[in-house]
Amino acid sequence: MSMKPRYALSLLGAAIVSVLGNISAVQAAEVNIYSARQEELIKPLLDKFSRETGITINLITGKPDELISRMVSEGRNSPADILISTDVGRLSRAKQQGVLQSVESDVLAETIPASLRDPMNQWFGLTMRARPILYVPGKVSPSELSTYEDLASPKWRGRICIRSSDNIYNQSMTASMIANDGADAAESWAKGLLANFARPPKGGDRDQIKAAAAGICDIAIANTYYLGGMLADEKEKVAADAVKVFWPNQDGRGTHINISGAGVAKYAPNKAEAVKLLEYMTTTDAQQWYADTNHEYPIRADVKASEILQGFGEFKADQLQLEKLGELNADAIRVMDRAGWK
Ligand SMILES: [Fe+2]
Repeated sequence: MSMKPRYALSLLGAAIVSVLGNISAVQAAEVNIYSARQEELIKPLLDKFSRETGITINLITGKPDELISRMVSEGRNSPADILISTDVGRLSRAKQQGVLQSVESDVLAETIPASLRDPMNQWFGLTMRARPILYVPGKVSPSELSTYEDLASPKWRGRICIRSSDNIYNQSMTASMIANDGADAAESWAKGLLANFARPPKGGDRDQIKAAAAGICDIAIANTYYLGGMLADEKEKVAADAVKVFWPNQDGRGTHINISGAGVAKYAPNKAEAVKLLEYMTTTDAQQWYADTNHEYPIRADVKASEILQGFGEFKADQLQLEKLGELNADAIRVMDRAGWK
């Protein structure tokens, strides 16, 4: 078949454009991240990825719900490739808002335990944290402690410090109570817990530990990395040393856990690079950095937790599919509202 010269020329032109296009794509490889993590908790890892791959990272840090809203309003024009957030509740919210997409990656599927990633692969857990009971030795004997459910018992009247119900960690914890015990039981539990508060909720997780150290309460609820971070910080070590970790529900479902994680944006302009970065975050190197720097539990069994976390002892983690906590988030907020948890 003969080709008309002009057609052949335009084909040649298209080939040149396509070669140039590929070259510039290689040179300008980049990933745009919307991150709800504090910059210092992630930037060094991203810099390492950039050095090793030549892929430029553009990092935008913000509050999780604001970043999700931004992705919604930007729609197809969103430059976001990856959303990083802490707590599965937020990642699941992003999924429900339709700003994430499913990702097929053997590396992610094989490295991350199924309960720590979305069944549709729209978000992936990259680090794990637990929310155990922290108690003041001398005021509480570990033999008196058992389960989250038991924290509603009258024997703890006026002795518990925990932050407010608008906090996503408490919403996810309450969602786990609903998943395991049902909404009615979770509501009675929340009422009982509330009756045991040492003070109206205020401050963050670290403040609950400090309050326990100051004698305001005998029990505090906080995520493990906060306690780990305080123990590693000269200024906060004294307060952190005042409490010990108790792993609740060890005879049953296990201690409530959560993740920090990420998902690929629905309209990611750089999807291949985005997946590459997520895979990088599951490597032993990256997991070790996360573990040592942030005191979060690695999602890989072949990477050791930090020495400080190892000091908390081994525990059985709740194997609940974490997406369930996202699905139950609205129910959890309702339960906490009804119980009067401010
Ligand atoms: Fe946190």
